[in-house]
Amino acid sequence: MIRICDDAEQLSRSAAELFVEQAQQAVAARGRFCVALAGGSTPERCYQLLAKPPLRELVPWAKTHVFWGDERCVPDSDPRSNARMAHAALLDQVPLPAAQIHLMACAENPAAAAQTYAALLQDFFPRSEPRFDLVLLGLGEDGHTASLFPETPALREKVRLVVPVQKPGEDFARLTLSAPAINSARLVVFLVSGKNKAAILSEILEGPSGRFPAQLITPVQGELLWLVDRAAIGQVPL
Ligand code: 6PG
Repeated sequence: MIRICDDAEQLSRSAAELFVEQAQQAVAARGRFCVALAGGSTPERCYQLLAKPPLRELVPWAKTHVFWGDERCVPDSDPRSNARMAHAALLDQVPLPAAQIHLMACAENPAAAAQTYAALLQDFFPRSEPRFDLVLLGLGEDGHTASLFPETPALREKVRLVVPVQKPGEDFARLTLSAPAINSARLVVFLVSGKNKAAILSEILEGPSGRFPAQLITPVQGELLWLVDRAAIGQVPL
């Protein structure tokens, strides 16, 4: 499903409203809301909107658990940290218990951290594959999502829930949810904004499958939503 927003601000507002809706539905149905946040820059404004009235008061924070789709293995204070951005934009401004913020802390030992995070997910979702109520994802211009980068072994991961990644050219490692872990979610939402994403978005939505990591995201028993703005959808004939 594709939902087109006029601009980045409306995309952020739509994403924040969707977050509220999913949170309320999850808590009503299952007593808790489990969300995996995206990194990068696109989701920041969405997080800021959730940190302020009126949306702030509509999220059942006491029953919300926050995870990440991926993280850079850098110190928490490092400006490249996805958790740092989420804390600044949202998590430090809302009454979310610290014990319900599940950081992908991997600055020391990415391989061990991947196993630890996977074990956390298995404990947290004991009866089945992780069933995040919502996974937010961004899209890179090379078609990556989370830290599933083209031509990396993580793309072939079918068993592990969390894997360490070394993106060529980066001097730090990353952790990422594997495609199967993401695909077990109830709802996966890509947030895609800006004309710099138009070419890749057109390739992904219109071109053959199986060419880009983002095309691995096909929820097994859940929904997939592309939340895009006009600048990004420009080239896609709908
Ligand atoms: C990361 C993100 C990554 C991001 C895309 C889009 O940690 O880098 O998880 O997948 O979502 O690169 O980034 P922008 O939103 O900044 O365009």
